[in-house]
Amino acid sequence: MSDLKNLLLHRNGFVATIQLNRPQVLNALNMELMDELIALFDSLDKDASVRCIVLTGNEKAFAAGADIKEMANATAVEMLARDQFSKWDRIRKVKKPIIAAVSGFALGGGCELMMHCDIVIASDTAKIGQPEINIGVMPGAGGTQRMTRAVGKVLAMELVLTGRFLTAEEALQAGLINKVVPVEFYLEEAQKLAKEISNRPPVAVRLAKEAVLKSFDTTMEIGLEFERKNFYLLFSSEDMREGMAAFIEKRKPEWKGK
Ligand code: CAA
Repeated sequence: MSDLKNLLLHRNGFVATIQLNRPQVLNALNMELMDELIALFDSLDKDASVRCIVLTGNEKAFAAGADIKEMANATAVEMLARDQFSKWDRIRKVKKPIIAAVSGFALGGGCELMMHCDIVIASDTAKIGQPEINIGVMPGAGGTQRMTRAVGKVLAMELVLTGRFLTAEEALQAGLINKVVPVEFYLEEAQKLAKEISNRPPVAVRLAKEAVLKSFDTTMEIGLEFERKNFYLLFSSEDMREGMAAFIEKRKPEWKGK
């Protein structure tokens, strides 16, 4: 995709890094940016030369939320017709792992986009929250659901009802993010982790991600059955034979992604 207006794409080996690129508005997520992002995720998901995706912004902002100027005059019926947030479900359905590399503001839709990712590496300058209440609305792209599952009811309620921002350290303590590093290293750290995951067998990575995500949508009973089926399915992969043979022969496995 060469005609990106609001995103930058960088590739290194099996890792693709997408950078949100509207720095003049702290990467506010307008509809054009989100449409580009969803299309890019779709195309990277189908691209066999990509095994892991990093999503980042810049040092000052991962993203400061949905674009307020684009919504300020909209009616409910217009918002319904745009149906913007339902398109975000396509990010949830990306099969490859997505690592968010977050610095500065991750607010409102920016926080919700972060929570669509599978792993989050943050800089020590990150400020994370759901401040929609302060402009007369509430989270609309999953914030009330994903935040609550990630940090529990009482903290989610506080964040959603007051709009208070969490520091990176607080977000780490609350289990919302994986790791905090000094600001100069957050992207490098996320890309290092992405490289590590991209050196794992891709079919197993895919089915494992799918099984973890399943736990959000189902009962323990059905989730366990789903997990077991994915586990058994991996016995039909060449990489499973290679992985176990390499272990027994005390050598490094060579993954084919088959
Ligand atoms: N939408 C549109 N523009 C935004 C924006 C947003 N969400 N956030 C920041 N900007 C713009 C500002 O309007 C400003 O543009 P101008 O220079 O043209 O005035 C520019 O980015 C820089 O912002 P500030 O001057 O405000 O920067 P600051 O450092 O003083 O403050 C901030 C930073 C605290 C993040 C502040 O910009 C802010 O509060 N932003 C809005 C955060 C917010 O409410 N997000 C939720 C949006 S609603 C939503 O996301 C719904 C949903 O669930 C999907």
